[in-house]
Amino acid sequence: MQKVTLFEGDGIGPEITREVVRIIDALQLPIEFEPYDIGKTAFENCGELIPQASLNSIKRNKIALKAPVTTPIGHGFRSVNVGLRLAFDLFANIRPAKSIPNVKTRYEDIDLVVFRENTEDLYIGLEEEIDENTIHAIKKITRHASERIIRAAFDYAVKNNRKKVTCVHKANILKKSDGLFLKIFNEIKEEYPTIETNDLIVDNTCMQLVMNPEKFDIMVMPNLYGDILSDLTSGLIGGLGLLPSANLNEEYAIFEAVHGSAPDIAGQNIANPTALLLSACMMLDHIGYTTEANKVRHAIEDVYQNTTIRTKDVKGTASTTEFANEIIARL
Ligand code: NAI
Repeated sequence: MQKVTLFEGDGIGPEITREVVRIIDALQLPIEFEPYDIGKTAFENCGELIPQASLNSIKRNKIALKAPVTTPIGHGFRSVNVGLRLAFDLFANIRPAKSIPNVKTRYEDIDLVVFRENTEDLYIGLEEEIDENTIHAIKKITRHASERIIRAAFDYAVKNNRKKVTCVHKANILKKSDGLFLKIFNEIKEEYPTIETNDLIVDNTCMQLVMNPEKFDIMVMPNLYGDILSDLTSGLIGGLGLLPSANLNEEYAIFEAVHGSAPDIAGQNIANPTALLLSACMMLDHIGYTTEANKVRHAIEDVYQNTTIRTKDVKGTASTTEFANEIIARL
């Protein structure tokens, strides 16, 4: 029996988690979810955003499915997501963006994956006040972190029959930091002669993504560019409600939707569970249930392609539960 730590999260978290668990349960796999608290709910219950029991559960199970959480606003609250990534050194943030049939956007046939380095760059939070009108922020790029994210992108490309890996950087200006990232990319690409490669400066990448997003395949980049570009790619396929993600290293993996806890629509049973469900599919792939993951993906495609049952964010009127019922009917 594979145990999976489950965080229902805050806001729309419990509503979408309930439906995703119902769908995964319908597959009748030997998977058991272990629910734990994290985020605002955990803070209200026990005074901690990431309780030790929750951390221990991830340590035991190595795999977690996490719904979005609300980070309370106030001095001293570090983001739960950053906290988890650092606690488990989850260096790879993987965000696939694939067009969903019949979800109307400006583009069709998008099928790209962003590999975002998750542990360094400007996100180490080292800002120094030189004087009240001058702040320095440290951008940290290391060989160790760059090598492992770039290699993860190439390994994924090989494993998933992808054709091309693009390195995104700003090495023309940040000659040393992004220069090192690009240098390592050029070294590692030699180990993967069957994969086509190129590199693009981040500003040009934004333009190309808006003009011709279907030309991109796998993209790998430092933390900040990955944060921004992966939100951009969610917009290309129809919005935040559709984009899944994985945060992982060789030992631990946390799967979650890219979107937040959406307090503006919480408690109404109208949130789109697709992003969390696709994240659960990535989890099934990770455990080795690829056939079952694809079964769920096909069910999602079928519902979007052949019915009008969909949630409000993608121009429908269905509730979260009604959408999930349609998926289950196809399993
Ligand atoms: P958000 O992603 O929660 O919401 C942005 C907009 O997208 C809202 O209009 C919301 O209704 C809509 N939306 C998001 N997910 C949706 C879904 N599944 N179905 C339908 N509509 C959806 O971002 P926001 O409002 O900036 O943040 C709200 C809270 O979430 C904050 O406390 C923030 O810290 C937290 N957050 C948590 C994340 C996580 O746990 N991974 C990631 C991003 C934000």
